[in-house]
Amino acid sequence: MHKLDPEKLPKHLAIIMDGNGRWAQERMLKRIVGHRKGVETVRTIVEESSLLGIKFLTLFAFSSENWLRPKTEVRSLMALLKAYLAKETSRLMTNNIRFAVIGDRSDLPEDVDRAVADAIEKTSRNTGMVLTLALSYGSRQEITNAVSRLADDLLSGQLSREEISEERISSYLYTSDIPEPDFLIRTSGEMRISNFLLWQIAYTELYFTEVNWPDFNKQEFYRALANYQARERRYGQISDQVRKRR
Ligand code: IPE
Ligand code: IPE
Ligand code: MG
Repeated sequence: MHKLDPEKLPKHLAIIMDGNGRWAQERMLKRIVGHRKGVETVRTIVEESSLLGIKFLTLFAFSSENWLRPKTEVRSLMALLKAYLAKETSRLMTNNIRFAVIGDRSDLPEDVDRAVADAIEKTSRNTGMVLTLALSYGSRQEITNAVSRLADDLLSGQLSREEISEERISSYLYTSDIPEPDFLIRTSGEMRISNFLLWQIAYTELYFTEVNWPDFNKQEFYRALANYQARERRYGQISDQVRKRR
């Protein structure tokens, strides 16, 4: 297992959990079996992140584009999500984790949305890690929605043109309460962002691994974090400047 420096962990870790379907198909199993196995990985990574002291963990669980999948798969995923929420809330309580969701919740089936609301409410007073699930989430939709509300506020005079700044724009996004991700992991070998947190990842460190999500275990997680810790974040400056600041 890689050794980690507790002082240099990402404050906000985001993960695109990918490869459940292929994991199952490689084993001649149904895709849903891969999704079920993926839920076990979620459990492991949530628990490990919280133990390590990561403050914000954001998991891409269902994209706005995923609604285009076969109806049966969408239905199974929604059922799995509801079961996860019902089952995991007590574990979230034990670990002092606060649950949150980003995405268009109005698209979710009513029973799933109720389970979401329930988990948010039950964990709302927890003070440890914030676990955010991106559900029916699409970054362009998020930005479009933000621009539209910003325009409303401009037109109604609640906001003036001079007040438009990067911070102000961020405040209209679903992620207004969350800092920008320091580190983004995508599993399964795909090297794309798939409409996830486009505005927020401007200076995020990216990490791609061939490992499918169901196989992403503690050892792989530590490997990824060790890789992050070996990087130098320069934000446009040169190495000497960044080192001096430390
Ligand atoms: C990620 O696994 C889970 C979701 C997108 C819901 P996939 O279902 O995308 O798995 P692959 O990419 O088909 O292997
Ligand atoms: C991205 O995975 C969305 C989630 C992980 C929830 P996809 O498997 O849907 O991404 P694409 O379609 O291959 O880019
Ligand atoms: Mg995929």
